[in-house]
Amino acid sequence: MHRSGAGTRSTPRCDDARSDGARGWRRGARRGGPPPPPPPQVCAACHSVNQLHYRNLVGVAYTEDEAKAMAAEAEVVDGPNDEGEAFERPGRLSDPLPAPYASEEAARFVRRRVGGGVRARAGRRALSTPLLVVSSQVNGGAYPPDLSLIAKARHDGTNYLMALLLGYTEPPAGVSVREGLYYNPYFPGGAIAMPKMLVDGGTDYDDGTPATEAQQAKDVATFLAWAAEPESDERKLAGAKWTLVLALVWATALYYKRWKWAPIKSRRIVIDAIN
Ligand code: HEC
Repeated sequence: MHRSGAGTRSTPRCDDARSDGARGWRRGARRGGPPPPPPPQVCAACHSVNQLHYRNLVGVAYTEDEAKAMAAEAEVVDGPNDEGEAFERPGRLSDPLPAPYASEEAARFVRRRVGGGVRARAGRRALSTPLLVVSSQVNGGAYPPDLSLIAKARHDGTNYLMALLLGYTEPPAGVSVREGLYYNPYFPGGAIAMPKMLVDGGTDYDDGTPATEAQQAKDVATFLAWAAEPESDERKLAGAKWTLVLALVWATALYYKRWKWAPIKSRRIVIDAIN
C-alpha cells in the first residue's frame, strides 16, 4: 500500500463506532442515506446502500412515521401496471434506499463529447488546441461501490472509513497523481477517484452539534458500521448471555457429577485372600 505521508501524522480512528447511541447514528444516517433536507445527502449522490430498506431505520433512529415520510419523498419505479407500463410512485417502508445509478455501467460511464478542436496555422506548423472533452460525470470511469457492507469489506472497516474520509492531503514531493484522481494515503495505491467530500460546516445538525469534518466522518463511519452489521449489538449481548448461562450449566453439571460419583470415588474395595 502506498503510505507515504500517512506516517507523519496520526491516523484518525473511530474505535467506539458501534454503540454510539442514536444521535450520532442518526446524523450519519442523514448524511449517508436517504433523508430529509437540509443536511445534504453527500454520499448518496454517488453511492448506493442496496441492503438497507426504509423499514430497517424504524425503531433504530427514526420513528415509523418519520421513516414513512422519508420513504415517501423518494420516487420509486414500480410496475407493470394494468397497461404493462412501469410507473413511479412514492416510496414505502419496504423499499430499499434509492440508488443514484441504475447499474454499475451507468455509474462508470463517462459520456465524452469530443469536438471543438480548433486548428490554426502558425507559419508552417499546424497548431491544434486539445480536443474538448466534457465528462458528464465526476466519477471518471471509477465505480462508487455500494456502501452497505463496506465496513465489513475493508480491513478494520470503521477506522478505515474514518481515515479515508479525513485522509485527503496534498501529494508529497515527488508523487504525482493523474488528473481526475485525488491523493489519499489511506486508499490502496494512494490515488482515489472520489474527491474529498467532507468540509467543516458542510452540513447543519439539528441538535446543534458543531459540524466539524471529523464529526461528520465519525457519523458516517458509525452509520456504515451499523449498516454492515445491524445485529452487532444484539449478537454481542446474546453471546454474553449464552456464555453466562452455559457457565452456570457447566458448574451445575460438574457439581452433580461429583455428587453422584462421590460414593463410588470414595469407596475402598479390599480383597482379602483367605488361604
Ligand atoms: C462524487 C461522487 C462521490 C461522492 C459524493 C462520494 N463518493 Fe465515495 N467514491 C466515489 C468513487 C468514484 C469511488 C471509487 C474510487 C476509486 O475506485 O478510485 C468511491 C469510493 C468510496 C469508498 C471505497 C473506498 C475503497 O476502499 O474501495 C468509500 C468507503 C466511499 N467512497 C465512501 C464515501 C462516503 C462515506 C461518502 C460521503 C461522505 C462518499 N463516498 C461520497 C465517488 C463518490
